[in-house]
Amino acid sequence: MKKNRVTLVEVGMRDGLQNEKSVVTLQNKIELTKRLVEAGVIRLELGAFVRPDRVPQMKDSAELLRHFYGVKSYSGIHESVLIPNEKGMELASEFPIKEIALFTAATESFNQKNINCSIEESFKRFEAIVKIAKKKKIKIRGYLSTCFGCPYEGSVDMNKVVQLVGRLLKLGCYEVSVGDTIGVAVPTQIDSLVKKLKAKKIPLSKIAGHFHDTRGTALINIFHAYQLGVNTFDSSIGGLGGCPFAPGAAGNVSTEDVVYMFEKMGVKTGLNLNRLIETNHWLSQVMQKKLPSKVGLAGDFLVKEET
Ligand code: HMG
Ligand code: MG
Repeated sequence: MKKNRVTLVEVGMRDGLQNEKSVVTLQNKIELTKRLVEAGVIRLELGAFVRPDRVPQMKDSAELLRHFYGVKSYSGIHESVLIPNEKGMELASEFPIKEIALFTAATESFNQKNINCSIEESFKRFEAIVKIAKKKKIKIRGYLSTCFGCPYEGSVDMNKVVQLVGRLLKLGCYEVSVGDTIGVAVPTQIDSLVKKLKAKKIPLSKIAGHFHDTRGTALINIFHAYQLGVNTFDSSIGGLGGCPFAPGAAGNVSTEDVVYMFEKMGVKTGLNLNRLIETNHWLSQVMQKKLPSKVGLAGDFLVKEET
């Protein structure tokens, strides 16, 4: 059911930074965490325990977590980290993590390029991780990539997507983030997804939308999904993002743009738009480039209007 509140999961520190040519320093990641928390972010994906030679931008995830758990005021923040295999779980287990995110894909070719195994093998890997997570009472989120199109295989069967969403939930994920990894989705595909989820009696409360904005359709997909009853969306500060193994993919939908749209519609996000715009401008200076967010670029008018 459509609610007057949505939940946003900030993925900028992981998805946003993982594909950037210039590696953002640990000190700047620490500052970004602080700014995002000050802007009201509660659900925050901080990093990834993946191979540092494959995704060097995430190699300081342990240091970032060490800092995070040292800040008392972050105790109310719901942090998460991306875990691909048992080795990643082992490394993350050093910390009192509240949530991990497992990830697989709806297409074999992308999965092979991304995590070097088949879909079936990825579920096999997850079993050991889930066992540890359950023992430690760590929440498990699931990502399913290439749900609306694959950079290697083209179109994707929505029945397969829904079947894999069901499998991730059965495995123990409390929520599955359905990914438009390369930003090709259009609202009719959201219709098809929601219809098929309902037919399989999968509650929309367990679904999140993860839209990359390569072709400018992310916001309309979010609006459409919201109207159909989806209430949780991933977004990234500045609209940064992309997967190093998904050629041609642009950034995630920007947090500022999503917040602007929902708040203007009277739908609460819990986030402070001015703070987000300020963070965008700060990050833009750090990265020495303009960030893709439309609202971030337009910024000034809204800052004046809302103060
Ligand atoms: P692999 O090479 O198959 O692993 O990597 P392996 O088990 O064969 O081990 C090989 C070596 O890697 C060993 O070291 C392991 O210890 C090491 P050696 O003995 O040779 O010295 N190793 C690790 N080191 C650190 N952390 C680990 C780890 N695992 C093994 N976790 C693996 C498999 C998945 C780890 C690798 O392919 C990888 O790191 N891939 C990167 C995946 C990634 O980060 N992708 C981007 C994020 S996903 C995404 O963006 C999509 C999403 O946003 C949703 C959407 O948009 O659709 C979530
Ligand atoms: Mg992504």
